[in-house]
Amino acid sequence: MKTQHKSPIQFLSRTFLLKMMYKVLIADNQNTINQIIDLRYAVLRQPWDKPKDTATDELELSSINAYIENDREVIACGRVQDNGNGIGQIRYMAVHPDYQGKGLGKLIITRLEEEAKAIGLKTLELQARENALEFYKSQGYLVKETSFKLWDIIQHYLMTKELK
Ligand SMILES: CC(C)(COP(=O)(O)OP(=O)(O)OC[C@H]1O[C@@H](n2cnc3c(N)ncnc32)[C@H](O)[C@@H]1OP(=O)(O)O)[C@@H](O)C(=O)NCCC(=O)NCCS
Repeated sequence: MKTQHKSPIQFLSRTFLLKMMYKVLIADNQNTINQIIDLRYAVLRQPWDKPKDTATDELELSSINAYIENDREVIACGRVQDNGNGIGQIRYMAVHPDYQGKGLGKLIITRLEEEAKAIGLKTLELQARENALEFYKSQGYLVKETSFKLWDIIQHYLMTKELK
């Protein structure tokens, strides 16, 4: 039987390759934030016919918005805000449907955690949609409690992670 040899590229981890392909950036202007809001709306609001203004709030400029783009289009995003007392909150995690399941969400949340640590946050909280529970669990978040049902449809769970 013929022996299968791995090429050097096959020894590189998926995360390493993804990091080479996609850079996680931090939004520093309103134009980029608007593009991020467009992605949030398309992924998190429009499928339930909810208005676009629910895809943002007044904390954009005081929060850290991480994003990934491809061909100048924002394809993944997430935000961390400082809630005080060393606690941060992750919100608005969204990956374009064509790019889900490829590791981009992991790149975004890892960057948000690094940014959170850099500003002195000790704990991160988030409200996970039921469909995203396993994603957050895979990133070390623990379910604290069953929380609210958004629009009486989408069950949410409060999850937390201690930053080390
Ligand atoms: C949830 C979401 C942000 C995750 O991003 P993603 O790019 O699809 O996830 P990744 O490919 O980075 O997955 C990272 C890890 O989570 C796991 N994972 C992701 N989704 C999963 C699922 N539904 N079930 C089980 N595991 C899952 C992956 O297997 C992967 O594990 P690995 O690192 O061991 O390979 C993205 O799928 C999304 O935008 N979903 C729709 C919007 C949404 O629900 N947002 C969250 C609101 S709280």
